[in-house]
Amino acid sequence: MISMIWAMDENWLIGKDNILPWHLPEDLAYFKRMTKEATVLMGDLTYDSLKGYYKTKPLPFKKIYVANIVDRAYPDATLVKDLIKFLENTKEDIMVIGGRTIYKLCLPYANRLYITHILNRYEGNVHFPYFPLSNYQLISKTMADQMIFAVYERPKL
Ligand SMILES: NC(=O)c1ccc[n+]([C@@H]2O[C@H](COP(=O)([O-])OP(=O)(O)OC[C@H]3O[C@@H](n4cnc5c(N)ncnc54)[C@H](OP(=O)(O)O)[C@@H]3O)[C@@H](O)[C@H]2O)c1
Repeated sequence: MISMIWAMDENWLIGKDNILPWHLPEDLAYFKRMTKEATVLMGDLTYDSLKGYYKTKPLPFKKIYVANIVDRAYPDATLVKDLIKFLENTKEDIMVIGGRTIYKLCLPYANRLYITHILNRYEGNVHFPYFPLSNYQLISKTMADQMIFAVYERPKL
């Protein structure tokens, strides 16, 4: 199954250049909890952004796939050059962790969405691409300080 996880503010902002627009420890803790045993898929730019946060420490995932159109060798990850073929054929449980380009390409394949709704408006320049979220079924909703941890599922046709 393909799942996706992201945090967005009230304007669906998700990024400022190649970093997060906010520092919200409660959301970081949630992200870590939801991804630490996961096989994750991310874009090349998000990979570099995470490496910036973790510096020399290993990225805390079970297995890492990085999508990139051009060839690049990752010491700790497998390159995915043909993302659509990968999404159509994978039998693994995959958690998509960004960024904008990769979320947009993966959304049609994702069955479950873990969205942190940040109840505020920040400055930044990367927004989640609009899609009709109201078509998804809200499975759970947990209130926290300044944010809501929501889980949605694509309705079965
Ligand atoms: N708020 C959140 O939860 C959250 C989470 C993660 C990231 N973010 C934010 O998102 C932003 C980064 O997003 P981004 O869209 O700039 O970058 P990205 O999605 O991390 O990476 C894009 C990469 O995907 C590659 N790509 C594009 N189409 C592809 C395909 N069909 N197959 C394989 N690879 C493909 C691109 O290659 P080319 O360069 O060759 O086109 C590029 O290297 C940052 O601001 C980051 O902070 C936010």
